[in-house]
Amino acid sequence: MSPHATKARHGRLWTWLDERVGLGEIEALARKKRVPVHRHSFWYYFGGMTLFLFVVQVTTGILLLLYYRPSAEEAYESVQFLMAEVQFGWLIRSIHSWSANLMIFALVVHLFSVLLLRAYRPPREVTWLSGVGLLALALAFGFTGYLLPWNELAYFATKVGTEITGAVPFAGRFLLRLLRGGDEVTGATLTRFYGIHVAVLPAVATALLGLHLYLVQRHGMSVSPSIERAGGPAQTTPFVPNFLLRDIVGWLSALAILAALAAFFPTELGRKADPFAPAPVGIKPEWYFMFMFQTLKYLPAHILGVEGEVVGILGFGLAGVLLLLLPFLDRRAARGERGSLVTWLAVGIIVYILALTYLGYTASPTT
Ligand code: HEM
Repeated sequence: MSPHATKARHGRLWTWLDERVGLGEIEALARKKRVPVHRHSFWYYFGGMTLFLFVVQVTTGILLLLYYRPSAEEAYESVQFLMAEVQFGWLIRSIHSWSANLMIFALVVHLFSVLLLRAYRPPREVTWLSGVGLLALALAFGFTGYLLPWNELAYFATKVGTEITGAVPFAGRFLLRLLRGGDEVTGATLTRFYGIHVAVLPAVATALLGLHLYLVQRHGMSVSPSIERAGGPAQTTPFVPNFLLRDIVGWLSALAILAALAAFFPTELGRKADPFAPAPVGIKPEWYFMFMFQTLKYLPAHILGVEGEVVGILGFGLAGVLLLLLPFLDRRAARGERGSLVTWLAVGIIVYILALTYLGYTASPTT
């Protein structure tokens, strides 16, 4: 479409803005973007879903900030006040906590779907690397946010979680002290987690997300090697408005589910943390850490003379590095060849995570 025709279609405000900020170029970019249509297209919605839930987190997080006070003396009371006295405070807090869970779920589905479709193949290696970075950030958001209400459950879960960090060989003690702001979980830990949760992580996540989305825009959506070998997708659909409108249907459905979850299962507060009280039985981490927590529990005290927990932590660390480097390890996929090893490994990992998570919730607290 010629610039004159575009101008003629829009009003004076649009033309004024176009001449100053280049709206026409953005419009042209949006019009150019197309999404392949094939039997796996459904999985393209999960990145957008994760993005939507991230926006919900930022919005509700800012609202929570208006009342939250980050100190051991006031944190619990400020959340209590928010839940009992502030209009819709309980709703905002519940949506923030449910949306965090749904976001991590959508992110995990997004990760495994791009993995199984081999979307990490050249030239999308950096998209993958930034994605793994976003996964780490999402887990860090969850871990730091969990402590903020300063209730009993959060306090002891953080104590256990940071203790595990302390078992990392060589750097463990340093990391534990760095996270806790001392030897114990105290008000200093809370202040630190607060700073990380509301300033450091949002800043880094926004930058990394910007890179991720820029790369998605730059490379367009990939199709799996099998569809590529069959001559590419038979059809594509415009992103704006066709795909975006479907995205929006998904987002509005997610909002409805969030509202229902928050209304029927509002997030509880429990009792205020008491560092001198004995740890309640059956302390559990958030569900997305459960499979790692349960694995560490099952490991024997010593494996080949090394502490079982240390072996477990090193194993998970190694798994994380392999996940990060996957685009560079899977040479077959890079050449566009057929290969089922990664598929079987991914299915094995999904089954392992599901089984250990199930055991984490059903096995008795002593096992
Ligand atoms: C906050 C977290 C994340 C957000 C908001 C996000 C967002 C998105 C969006 C909107 C897309 C385009 C639509 C789609 O393919 O679903 C995308 C594509 C992609 N994402 Fe993510 N993502 C996140 C995390 C991850 C993670 C954890 C990975 C993997 C480790 C990853 C790897 C990729 C790859 C490789 C693509 C390109 C897919 C293709 O071209 O077919 N992303 N992401």
